[in-house]
This record gives sequence, structure tokens and C-alpha cells, in this order.
Amino acid sequence: MSKYKTPTPLPTPLPTPLPIASALLISALLIFPAGVLAHGDGHAHTDAPHEHKDFQGMKNPMAGNYKAFVEGRKIYRQRCAKCHGDTGRGDGPGAKSMTPPPPDLTADVSIHGSTDGEIFNVIANGVPKTAMPAFLNKKNLGESGVWKVVEFLKTLRGNKK
Ligand code: HEC
Repeated sequence: MSKYKTPTPLPTPLPTPLPIASALLISALLIFPAGVLAHGDGHAHTDAPHEHKDFQGMKNPMAGNYKAFVEGRKIYRQRCAKCHGDTGRGDGPGAKSMTPPPPDLTADVSIHGSTDGEIFNVIANGVPKTAMPAFLNKKNLGESGVWKVVEFLKTLRGNKK
């Protein structure tokens, strides 16, 4: 489990094939508040690009799914644009007063890793001690909602003009 320490040992290390991974995520969330799962290791905030290896192998069930992208775009406008900006450059209203500020999502390199699984992790679990909220909770976006928005975010990359 490398550097990820969860309060109770999980039976298998993440990532695992999705059905098991989701069951683990969901059961972990029932027991612990969102955010504890991925960042319960006290992972301090850092601006330096880094990897979250445990999430790199996670399979995105909606990869390349156009409908998921369309729904993800809608979610982004409703839930994310106020901080990250309409075009993802981190220039939403209020972003200036945030420390750290919302990163530019059109950048080629993501601070928290650039694989689908790592992007899923950030959105699902949020980033403690920053304004980035956790969205995995079923009453929030739920797992499928998070993957949809991942599909949308991937299209922002390299979108610099
Ligand atoms: C209240 C403001 C706020 C909202 C709402 C918000 N974010 Fe964030 N987001 C942040 C901040 C601040 C960070 C920077 C965290 C850090 O520095 O580690 C961040 C980081 C991220 C990252 C990591 C980028 C990288 O370079 O690794 C992603 C991806 C992301 N947000 C996606 C989203 C998505 C998708 C939504 C909507 C579902 C969303 N955010 C909603 C403030 C917000």
C-alpha cells in the first residue's frame, strides 16, 4: 500500500478492478468522511507535480464515451466553473482569493497526476487544506458523475490558444 495508510487495513490494495474498487471506496466512505480514503496519510498540500501511483491503474469505465463527456461538461459548468473558470484556466469568480488557487486544468501536466485514475482521485476525494471539495459521495456526484467530469476535463488539456 506504499504511502497510503487508511485507518483500517483494506483487504486488497487499490487499485483493483472497478467493481471491487467501487465496493471498497463506497464501504470506506460509509465508515469515514470523504477525503480520508486517499489523503488519510496526511499527504500535505504541495504545488509540485507528483503522482498518486495507487490510482494510476484504475480503469475508467466511461473512457471515450461521448454521452459521458456531454454530461460531464454540464456538471463542470454547474459545479466546477465557479472556481476553475468556464474554460478551465483557474479564473472563476472568487479564484483570486484562494490559497492555493485553482490550477489551470488546460495544463499538460496536472499537479496530482495526469492519468484518468489520478484525476478521478482528486475530484472524488478533494484536496485537504485547499478549497477543492470531495465529490464522490453519492449525494454529491457519485462515482459515475466523477468519471463523467473526468471525461470532460480530458478534452480541456492542450486547449491553450
Ligand atoms: C470552491 C472551489 C473549487 C471547486 C468548486 C472545485 N475546485 Fe477543483 N480545485 C480547487 C483548488 C483550490 C484546487 C487546487 C488544489 C491543490 O492545489 O492541490 C483544485 C484542484 C483540482 C484538480 C487538480 C488539478 C491538478 O493540476 O492536479 C482537479 C482535476 C479539479 N480541481 C477538478 C475539479 C472539478 C472537476 C470540479 C467540479 C466537479 C472542481 N474541481 C470543483 C478549487 C475548486
